[in-house]
Amino acid sequence: MISTEIRTPHSGQDYLEKSATESPRRSPNQSLLPLTAKIKDKDLLEIGGCDLKTLVEQFGSPLYILDEVTLRTACEQYRDSFKTYYQGESQVIYASKAWSSLAVVSVIASEGLGFDVVSGGELYTTQKALEKMGYSPQQIAQTIYFHGNNKSLEELQLAIAIGCTIIVDNWLELETLVKLGNATPNVTIPILLRLTPGIECHTHEYIRTGHLDSKFGFDPNQIEAVFTYVAQYPCLNCRGLHAHIGSQIFERQPHQDLAGVMVEWLKKAQDYGLPLTELNIGGGLGICYTEADDPPSIEEWVKAVSEAVMKACEGQKIALPKLIAEPGRSLVGPACVTAYTVGSRKEIPQLRTYIAVDGGMSDNPRPITYQSLYRVVIANRMSVPITETVTVAGKHCESGDILIKDAQLPQTHPGDILVVMGTGAYNYSMASNYNRLSRPAAVLVHDGEANLILQRETYEDLIRQDCLPQRLLA
Ligand code: LLP
Repeated sequence: MISTEIRTPHSGQDYLEKSATESPRRSPNQSLLPLTAKIKDKDLLEIGGCDLKTLVEQFGSPLYILDEVTLRTACEQYRDSFKTYYQGESQVIYASKAWSSLAVVSVIASEGLGFDVVSGGELYTTQKALEKMGYSPQQIAQTIYFHGNNKSLEELQLAIAIGCTIIVDNWLELETLVKLGNATPNVTIPILLRLTPGIECHTHEYIRTGHLDSKFGFDPNQIEAVFTYVAQYPCLNCRGLHAHIGSQIFERQPHQDLAGVMVEWLKKAQDYGLPLTELNIGGGLGICYTEADDPPSIEEWVKAVSEAVMKACEGQKIALPKLIAEPGRSLVGPACVTAYTVGSRKEIPQLRTYIAVDGGMSDNPRPITYQSLYRVVIANRMSVPITETVTVAGKHCESGDILIKDAQLPQTHPGDILVVMGTGAYNYSMASNYNRLSRPAAVLVHDGEANLILQRETYEDLIRQDCLPQRLLA
């Protein structure tokens, strides 16, 4: 739970919770700033031993700053908590849609996690990163799970060539896999079946229904037909079941209910000659974007899920499956901040003051897409008292390009470094070039060292894919 200082911050330094500095092993998803955040020389925010003002001078702005310790701590906490609380085999796989890049994959792979990919592009990125790390083809195959509700033929062929597990979403995919499997001698395709469990989450509430209006996965009514179909084809090696119920979830009950439903289906599969041994319960654990957010810790979440699966298996009298979780946001989200440079200011008396930064909806589309809330500090004025309420606007030609409405800030001047917290998940991965803005650079910080992990796009990059037919030049 976030401390009272943060609920009414007097200055940016109140965001460095006491507990965070005293106990750096706390759950990253319960912290607004990365775990290594510190203040240097009274006013400068430092992350991973690097002060943010210097980072911006060196690498430019806007800049994604990813803290390696926070990312590794989240990986460790997931991995170790499953070892502690789940009596069967377990695997944590990173939902790489949250941020897919060679460096992010490498850090997470080095912590022993696997990967969930949802497109040929994410598959390729992950495969390349693992190859560079020296993984054998067999290890790569065992590490990757391929999702998607409309995988193309080419994507399925690539997945089969790599040998990764395919999480089958629908009938067309199932039939295509059977065709591909039958056409290729000596191939068995490892699959999980994605089911729609009838548990729907909207962050703070959830509902259980018989059917669910979702584009993903097989409908519960179809399960028996799917089991019958899958059992007929030796080219399919159906190892288990998958479900994902939502994202940014703060309650434990939905996943506990999910465990019960999924274990019932594991048991049912036995009647169809399918001895399924894997259960993937998806991701979804929430993180703190503001002081009002109150997610369980990674450990508490894993404990709740593990106990629910074990209890359900005991009830159904089936052996414990290999339990897989696929978090994205809670691994990478809290590990990153985005640093911007403050520019123009517009004061509308009695109405609102806008300050504009040098990025916006192209590097963080979450506020305009989901009305997501973020917290913000000025990295070079951490001890200066908070005295103004301003709206932080992006630089795009769009009125809705507002990063933070009513941000609490100290007096802020052009050239100040404004830092938005909790931007590791679904920021870079959803970034665009709207208005032909270059996508930012990203650095990985650790122990006072900052390594570039993503180059800033140049104007040349922006026109790289453009083609100019010769006849237009005549
Ligand atoms: N597994 C599956 C099948 C998923 O669809 C997702 C997220 C995850 C795992 C990871 O969920 P997480 O642990 O990150 O909650 N763009 C949205 C989030 C979309 C999430 C899509 N699926 C946002 O910015 O909030």
